[in-house]
Amino acid sequence: MEEVARALAASKSAVAFTGAGVSAESGVPTFRGAGGLWERYRPEELATPEAFERDPDLVWRWYKWRQELIYAADPNPAHLALAELERLGVLKAVITQNVDGLHRKAGSRRVVELHGNIWRVRCTSCGREFPVEKPVGEIPPRCPICGGLLRPAVVWFGEPLPRGAWEEALSLASSADFMLVVGTSGVVYPAAHIPRIAKRNGAVIAVVDPGETALDDIADFKIRGKAAEILPRLVAEVRRCLT
Ligand code: APR
Repeated sequence: MEEVARALAASKSAVAFTGAGVSAESGVPTFRGAGGLWERYRPEELATPEAFERDPDLVWRWYKWRQELIYAADPNPAHLALAELERLGVLKAVITQNVDGLHRKAGSRRVVELHGNIWRVRCTSCGREFPVEKPVGEIPPRCPICGGLLRPAVVWFGEPLPRGAWEEALSLASSADFMLVVGTSGVVYPAAHIPRIAKRNGAVIAVVDPGETALDDIADFKIRGKAAEILPRLVAEVRRCLT
């Protein structure tokens, strides 16, 4: 932990890369592993354009359920620790695969959402995007402008990532000298390219996860544990190094 904190405190362009595990202790289920969403649901039935085409009501019932879970969730000490690292001037940005918006809610300012955000919807007819403040009411929700079918503005399997977010993540990964990888199994591409690009460009990679991940092969440091326990301790160590 001390060694990671020293390297992080000494870094000039550190970036975090997060997945569902960073929100686990906020009560938001992860996708894989014990109790993960994909254990109970089939992603092909809920998180693909074909599924939405086939049964928009079913897909919306699932997303409304997730919106309700996330609406009730608060940022946990892991999110808060990353926001603190940004305030300390150590962390330049958080690149996240999560759609729950909890990094921003925790105070992180520069957040790159690779997979969109569950609090935004997009009209499948006119293409307009709208923020939603709370879980949708009627299912399926309709566009207030053209009456078309609204969909969650999140990235489904087989869909391209938002261009702006991908470009920004690439740029951050290319210039990072340290990447803190937290709570991701690292099995979903193209997102999982980001830590590998950082590694190829010489960044020190620290992985925080209670289990094994598909990114462990590029980890210079591996801290096994829950993000809400590890990250606050890491920030305390970084603070000590900065004084
Ligand atoms: N703290 C840190 N990590 C944790 C915790 C915790 N408390 N609990 C679980 N984890 C770890 C798991 O060990 C696992 O490595 O978080 C990771 C969660 O992995 P996934 O469920 O696969 O989530 P993620 O990597 O974000 O999935 C990527 O897949 O389904 C798609 O679009 C979806 O963005 C998602 C993408």
